[in-house]
Amino acid sequence: MSERHVVLGVTGSIAAYKAVDLASKLTQAGVSVHTVMTEAATQLVGPATFRAITGLPVSTSMFELTNPFSIEHISLSEVADLMIIAPATANVIAKMAAGIADDLLTCTALATRAPILIALAMHTAMWENAATQANLETLQSLGMSFVGPATGRLASGGFGAGRFAPVTEILGVALGMLGANGDLAGRKIVITAGGTREPIDPVRFLGNRSTGKMGFALAEAARDRGANVSLISGATTLPTPAGMNVHSVGTAAEMLDTVEAVSTDADILIMAAAVADYAPEMRASEKIKKEDVDLVLPLNRTQDILNTIRDVPIRVGFAAESENLIENAKGKLVSKNLDLIVANDISRSDSGIGADNNECTILDASGNQESLPLMPKREAAERILDRVVGLLSAK
Ligand SMILES: Cc1cc2nc3c(=O)[nH]c(=O)nc-3n(C[C@H](O)[C@H](O)[C@H](O)COP(=O)(O)O)c2cc1C
Repeated sequence: MSERHVVLGVTGSIAAYKAVDLASKLTQAGVSVHTVMTEAATQLVGPATFRAITGLPVSTSMFELTNPFSIEHISLSEVADLMIIAPATANVIAKMAAGIADDLLTCTALATRAPILIALAMHTAMWENAATQANLETLQSLGMSFVGPATGRLASGGFGAGRFAPVTEILGVALGMLGANGDLAGRKIVITAGGTREPIDPVRFLGNRSTGKMGFALAEAARDRGANVSLISGATTLPTPAGMNVHSVGTAAEMLDTVEAVSTDADILIMAAAVADYAPEMRASEKIKKEDVDLVLPLNRTQDILNTIRDVPIRVGFAAESENLIENAKGKLVSKNLDLIVANDISRSDSGIGADNNECTILDASGNQESLPLMPKREAAERILDRVVGLLSAK
């Protein structure tokens, strides 16, 4: 994202303070954020906050002489790879639907050829007003994209539709739009994440410590490189990522069924989920009562997903091992006929399952071995996808 420019239009909604968080997260993702604020927005949040967060000048008027842009609305409209209007008031979308350009933000929106993403925020009554709905339809027909509004508690104290969408959701959609022409554009990728849970009775299950962080990092990285992503997730507490198809599953059998259904036309399958190898033979319909004798739980072998699904062009597995890491990973690479396998040493507490970082080794079918040092899972995800892109162009 390092050479990507976003013009962030902030308007006079009470949610304007949340745009600071959005600006911060976009900046952290490497995007250059050029903030444009309406006069009403400056009444709610100070331009200096956006300037400090983004490290770039903030524009508030058409006739400022201090900023580097010469004719500012034109320069801003041309520099933008994406324009985001967040939060967007009822007023600003009405003006945009009518083609009005009476301030820097609306002028830039009218002049830009970049895609425009709008995150609405307003009181339920304003949102439901027929005029707002008609303006929304007009902007949709002009090809503009929308996030939200969400339903929930409103600043006025009420509850209803009109709430600013979660910043992580807006961020996800925005990064997906910025990466639309990336090196995975036009590719369908299926990624599994998290741990499966095998029920013993209505309240107990056999599970594992997988958090889903590695699979989610892969899914977000693939989305931001232009892929059409299907994320199949077992148990996780992570927020649902935006800009992809997310399927939640429980057991290993459900994960297999979903991977089978979703991967029919996929180019790539990456199995980062921790799938149970064994499941209880029987699921008790009532909670199992405590007795004075030991309980023996018969377990059956589950069906291996990568062994079953062999017709996806690029198949990537993960090997989480506590001993003989490379040897065991090589064995899986060969027996499952994989293109790549990522070997994780799970005996370490600072890497692999549950950790934010990963130190892993990527092995390929030609016998090459690449060791990645300890790095954030998102970075490891990018390195794994670099290898996938290499395989795609070689095929
Ligand atoms: C505290 C406060 C909060 C407001 N919040 C919203 C809002 O969430 N959505 C909205 O459409 N208008 C909201 N308004 C009304 C807008 O600020 C008003 O329509 C203004 O003209 C919008 O100007 P702009 O679209 O140029 O930023 C709010 C006004 C105030 C005083």
